[in-house]
Amino acid sequence: MKVTISKSAKNNTHITFLTEESKIKPKDFEGKKDEITVRYKNKNTIIYCGLGKGNKCADTILRSAAAIGIRKAIDLKRKRVSIIEPKIKDLKKYPAIALIEGAVLGSYIFTKYKSEKPKTVTTAEVVSKNITKKEAKDIASVCESINYARDLVNDNANEIFPERLAEEALSIASLSDDITCTVLTDKEIKEKGLSLLYAVGQGSPYPPRLAILEYMGNPESKKNIAIVGKGITFDSGGQNLKPTAHIETMRCDMAGAAAVLGLMKALAGLKPGVNVTGVVPAAHNAIDSTSYLPGDTYKSYSGKTVEILNTDAEGRLALADAISYCIKNFSPTEIIDLATLTGSILSALGDTIAGLFSNNDALADKLFQSGEKTGERLWRLPIYDEHREAIKSDIADIRNISKLKKGHAGSITAAAFIESFVNNLPWAHLDIAGTAFNEGEVRGEVPKFGTGFGIRLLMDYLLNK
Ligand code: BES
Ligand code: ZN
Ligand code: ZN
Repeated sequence: MKVTISKSAKNNTHITFLTEESKIKPKDFEGKKDEITVRYKNKNTIIYCGLGKGNKCADTILRSAAAIGIRKAIDLKRKRVSIIEPKIKDLKKYPAIALIEGAVLGSYIFTKYKSEKPKTVTTAEVVSKNITKKEAKDIASVCESINYARDLVNDNANEIFPERLAEEALSIASLSDDITCTVLTDKEIKEKGLSLLYAVGQGSPYPPRLAILEYMGNPESKKNIAIVGKGITFDSGGQNLKPTAHIETMRCDMAGAAAVLGLMKALAGLKPGVNVTGVVPAAHNAIDSTSYLPGDTYKSYSGKTVEILNTDAEGRLALADAISYCIKNFSPTEIIDLATLTGSILSALGDTIAGLFSNNDALADKLFQSGEKTGERLWRLPIYDEHREAIKSDIADIRNISKLKKGHAGSITAAAFIESFVNNLPWAHLDIAGTAFNEGEVRGEVPKFGTGFGIRLLMDYLLNK
C-alpha cells in the first residue's frame, strides 16, 4: 500500500474519526471506540470511526480505529482512500503516525493460499499538516516490514524452513551496504560445536542454519545491540511429541526470527545511527528415529553441559548456542532475545502482553516504556535464585526443564536457562508465545495468525538510543 501525505482530501472515500464529544455526528452514531458506520454524500463515501472519549484517546485507539476503517474500505472495494487526521484537543501532537500504522498494518491479509485474492486499498492519502513526507515514508516502511514478518510466520513450515530463513537474511543484507550477513550451515554448526542447536535440528530433513546480520549504523561507536530471535520453523515437540490442539499452530515458532528479519529489513530502510546484530538460530524440531532424545546430555557452544529432559523445551537450546556464538564472535554490548518460548506465558499474561525478563533494570524499564508507547505491551516477571537452582542437573551442568512441579513458573525457569548463557551482559528476554500468533479474531491492527509482534517495539527502543 502506498502512503501519501496531503493538505486536503483528493479521494472519494474518506476515513474520518469522531469522539463521543464530537458536536457533529451522523445520526445513530455515538463515536464509541470500535464503532464504525458508512454514509454516502454526493459522490463521496464517508467511513466514520469512533474513538471513544476524547480525553482517553491515545495512539493505541487511533491505530486500532484506522485499522478498522481501512478494513471497511477494503470491504467496500475501494482502491484509494483519504484518511483525515482528527483535530481533537486532547490528542497528542502527531495522530498521523498512529493512523499510518493502523492503515498499513490493518490492511494486511495473508492471501497466498486463497484462490480468489481479495482486492485491497492501493493508496492511502493521509490528510495532515503535522507530518513530513519522510516521517510518513519511514513509518509505512516499518509497517511493511511487519507485514513481511507476518507472511513468514503464516506460510507453511515446508516453505519456510531453516535454509529459507537464512536466504531471507541474505536477501535483506543485499538491500543495504550497511548490512552484512553470515550464515553457518548444518555442517559448520556441528563442526564449530553449536551442539544444542544442531541437536534440535538433527531429526529433520530440513537442516539447521544460523544466520547473523550486522547492521552498522554508527561505526564510531562500540555499542552493539544483539537481537536474537527463536527460529524453530516447526515445533512438533520432537520425541516429546505435542498432542492435538497444541501442535497445529507450531509453524509460528519462528516468530522471533521473523521479527528479527523484519526489524533488520526496517533498519535497512531507515538507517538509524545504531549498531545492531540480528541473530537467527533456525531449526526444525522434528520427530524421527534420528531426533535427539530425552535423557541425552550435550555440550553447548559455551562449554556448559545440558541434560535434555524434554525435547519440547527446544527453543532455549537453540537460543543458548546462538547467544554464546554471538557473544564470542560479534562482541555485543547488550542482548535482547525474542522467543515463542513457553505456553506458560499465555496462562500468565494472555495473548495481548508479552513476558519481559531481564538482568538489567534500566534496559527493562526502557523496553517497558517502548511497549506502552507502541501498544506492544510487556510485563516484567522476576528470576530468583530458586529458579536458577531448579535448572541444576545431577548429570550435567544444567537441565532444559526445571525440577519444579509441572506448571510451576515455566516461563521463569525457561528465562533462567537463557540467562545462564548471557555472561552477565545486559540482557532482556521477551517471551512472545502469547502475542506472536493470534488464534482469535482480528483486533484493530492485530490480524489473525502471525502478528509481527516486537518490531515496532524494538524499533522504538532503538530509535530512542
Ligand atoms: N514453542 C513452544 C511454546 C509455545 C506454546 C509457543 C504455545 C507458542 C504457543 C515451546 O517450545 C514449548 O514447547 N515449550 C514447552 C516447555 C515445556 C516442555 C517445559 C511448554 O511451554 O509447554
Ligand atoms: Zn517446544
Ligand atoms: Zn518451541
